[in-house]
Amino acid sequence: TPAGDLATQVLHALDKNSPLLSSEAFPAIPSTEVKGALDRLASRDMVKYETIDREEAILEPEGEQIAANGSHEARVFEALRSAVEGLTIQELEKTIGDKNVVKIGQGRAFREKWISKTQDGKFKAAKESIKDVTKEQMQTIQSTKSYPDAKMLADLKKRKLVRTQKIISFKVQKGDKFALKIPEVATDLTADMIASGSWKTATFKGYNFKALGADQQSGALHPLNKVRSELRQIFFEMGFQEMATDKFVESGFWNFDSLFVPQQHPARDMQDTFYVSDPKLADMPRAEDPSDKADYQAYWDNVKAVHQDGKYGSIGYRYPWSGEESKKLVLRTHTTAISANMLYKLAQQKGPDGRPPPARYFSIDRVFRNETVDATHLAEFHQVEGVIADYDLTLGGLMEFMDIFFGKMGITDLKYKCAYNPYTEPSMEIFSYHKGLGKLVEIGNSGMFRAEMLESMGLPKDMRVFGWGLSLERPTMIKYGISNIRELLGHKVDLNFMRNSPAVRLDKA
Ligand code: PHE
Repeated sequence: TPAGDLATQVLHALDKNSPLLSSEAFPAIPSTEVKGALDRLASRDMVKYETIDREEAILEPEGEQIAANGSHEARVFEALRSAVEGLTIQELEKTIGDKNVVKIGQGRAFREKWISKTQDGKFKAAKESIKDVTKEQMQTIQSTKSYPDAKMLADLKKRKLVRTQKIISFKVQKGDKFALKIPEVATDLTADMIASGSWKTATFKGYNFKALGADQQSGALHPLNKVRSELRQIFFEMGFQEMATDKFVESGFWNFDSLFVPQQHPARDMQDTFYVSDPKLADMPRAEDPSDKADYQAYWDNVKAVHQDGKYGSIGYRYPWSGEESKKLVLRTHTTAISANMLYKLAQQKGPDGRPPPARYFSIDRVFRNETVDATHLAEFHQVEGVIADYDLTLGGLMEFMDIFFGKMGITDLKYKCAYNPYTEPSMEIFSYHKGLGKLVEIGNSGMFRAEMLESMGLPKDMRVFGWGLSLERPTMIKYGISNIRELLGHKVDLNFMRNSPAVRLDKA
């Protein structure tokens, strides 16, 4: 029934009889539909209503049968009462015409002592008359949909004659603006209404201040972006400058050679790194804006020398260094390629004392590795990276800084383990005890950049640079309780997860 029709029907029913009970006036219409119509009328003050919840007792098919024909035991009794000689079981079944009624009925009739057996084994009535209480109960329930004795009702339910169900109904009465027709209400004041003057007599629909706004399905930040913005905040408050990371493709020179990664290093293997096939090769490293006056050729030559022959007190790797290999284009495997570029630019700067000034840089962006995809690895992920360049830094300083930095992320009690990176010496993996997992988990990698790398750039000998990196996915997965990285990134991501994920706050110590 369309709501309009039902609302009008309600008005007509109320006109005849107010108040009315919706379950009586509209027994076949679901209560949600009735409520819709009543709300519509109530919003116009045409009706008032209250909701009444009650249990209704309903006859099961067997109960219906008893209400119509009498209980099984009463039917058996009636059949026997008119047979003075008594009846055999077969005769009884024939008279009643329902074996099941006879089977249950005779048992109960015996128990009630309504019937007995003759000497030759026939059934006969043992009374003049009986009172069929069950039938009366069924008829009461049929007409009133309830039963006054709750214990008895429970008993009838157990006998599967009756069931109960919850009924929502509405007690409705006329409202102040009751009428038989729903007045046309205007929801908007239109230009036409003003021009014609019809606004003067129009009825306007009142504002519904309780209406929920429609869900806007606006864009949502990805959880990685939310954690990223928290981390950026930490870097900014510690005086870091954000590096421009807007290039996914790098040359081998910046991604590897500048970082003193030898050209035979397994990380440079096609198994680990994605190489670009078209174009295959980069230009020589060069300035990207006219203000950059650095001598890139000299730098290139230094890098070649330090790898191939050794320089700056290092014996180098002593292999024939290939410019061609260095120019190969790759999808960057770490954001340390950007850090190298920034440190090279820093080497060109002159502070008040004519030397490169101390600097703190960070970045959070995507990197690519030719990994076999599994629950914790994707071929692309995000790296959080920081570098600190200053004079006379020490390893102890790096460890203290890590305590402060990770402490701001809510990660404390760091442990360090010696590690190897071609570009740092010493190198340390950073671990933290994860309470949920009950073990130490690796949270980052760090080190002091090597002289081979820094001095090739022209940075002064006594300028030291800390570097460290971690994945953005690891803390995000821990924060959002995700165990499979594919739920976080890639084509299997559930967009509702994005929409419904709240912003995080890292629990800062
Ligand atoms: N580039 C390293 C990595 O991919 C992280 C790192 C950055 C380590 C800087 C030391 C110094 O894990």
